Amino acid sequence: MRTITSPLPEEDRQVTGTALQETLVDLLDLSLVAKQAHWNVYGSRFRTIHEQLDEVVATARDYADQVAERAAALGVSPDGRAATIASDSGLPGLKPGWIGDAAAVEALVESFSVLIGRLRERVGTTGRSDVVTQDLLIGLTAELEKQSWMFQSENRG
Ligand SMILES: [Fe+2]
Repeated sequence: MRTITSPLPEEDRQVTGTALQETLVDLLDLSLVAKQAHWNVYGSRFRTIHEQLDEVVATARDYADQVAERAAALGVSPDGRAATIASDSGLPGLKPGWIGDAAAVEALVESFSVLIGRLRERVGTTGRSDVVTQDLLIGLTAELEKQSWMFQSENRG
């Protein structure tokens, strides 16, 4: 079997591959967290939050695909298996069961905060190892920061 030829030197390929793999796992977990909340949310703002959560799912899935395929293009095998998500995700999890609309918003705000912090570190790392990957992560971070703002605005009194 031919291996994929990477455009990057080996050390940069490894650093970039790690950043992409960690981002992939975080995004797949975000898509699951947002779907779980989408199904379990209740309260007077049900419709708005229910639909807003599906926008998060769509963003997370879309970027997960781009991130995984960027890894593959660098010759790094992406790992999106359930067991890998369970062991490697950096996101805080959700408790099982129904979740009120304000609590769902808080959970998403917290998830965004953790994820954005982790992404901004990887933006720095990939700035030294691969600016093409950095560009992808910058676009992703901007989108998540926008969605974080929208969720924070939901709970402002
Ligand atoms: Fe749905």
